[in-house]
Amino acid sequence: MPQSDPLTFDVRLGDCIKLFPKVAASSVDFIYLDPPFNTGRTHRSSRGAFRDVFAGVDAYIEFLRPRLELAHRTLKPEGSIIVHCDWHASHRVRVLLDELFGSERFLNHLIWQYGLGGSSPRMFARKHDDLLWYAKGDTWHYTAPRVPATSRRMQGLTKKATDVLDIPSLNNMSKERCGWPTQKPLALLELLVEACCPPKGIVLDPFCGSGTTLIAAQRLGRSAIGFDIAPEAVALTKQRLATGVR
Ligand SMILES: C[S@@+](CC[C@H](N)C(=O)[O-])C[C@H]1O[C@@H](n2cnc3c(N)ncnc32)[C@H](O)[C@@H]1O
Repeated sequence: MPQSDPLTFDVRLGDCIKLFPKVAASSVDFIYLDPPFNTGRTHRSSRGAFRDVFAGVDAYIEFLRPRLELAHRTLKPEGSIIVHCDWHASHRVRVLLDELFGSERFLNHLIWQYGLGGSSPRMFARKHDDLLWYAKGDTWHYTAPRVPATSRRMQGLTKKATDVLDIPSLNNMSKERCGWPTQKPLALLELLVEACCPPKGIVLDPFCGSGTTLIAAQRLGRSAIGFDIAPEAVALTKQRLATGVR
């Protein structure tokens, strides 16, 4: 019987602008990118911190532009990319992606509705992030994810996910929390990896933080590559991969 290739997990330390060129062109099935959002602050937690301060939204977009160009080069012709951002710059990131990938390659603007946090007496509470999904070419992988049905009539059943993903963010008591600021829930990454990357395919996360994307890939039988500029993040990702810690 032919042996199937073993899965590989490659975690590297450095600025993704320097690491992307080390990955072969047109070799990756799916890229998930969760960069700093241009919040104007440093995010801290028990296991590390990262700076999210740019000289305005123009400077932020010029930071993303060459990195997204490299992401485009790295994707297979049938690959796709999700860029995770929020209200600070999602309007500008979408214009940038239209420019780099082509507006005809836009697939979805996913809303990650996370619930947690305070409210404001002056405006509607901001309770979602924006995930922009683009294909590189005119075909792409998609396996429709199934999520628990919310209506009473369908209790216990599942339905196909829509472009609004209702997944709680990690609260302070969550066992999954590993101490990296802005850590994303595994449930979100599992849904995205399963939907957008074929089985045994390769996922790349150039701002991998605590490695949530790589853990999702490991659990779902995909190979993964992760980059991060913070040594603590790379150490945490390797530790989570080695122990299979959620
Ligand atoms: C929003 S966090 C990612 C969180 C991650 N998705 C998780 O679940 O833990 C953004 C990450 O980008 C990293 N970063 C910032 N600039 C970078 C760069 N130029 N190249 C690679 N990583 C970078 C930060 O160290 C931080 O870990």
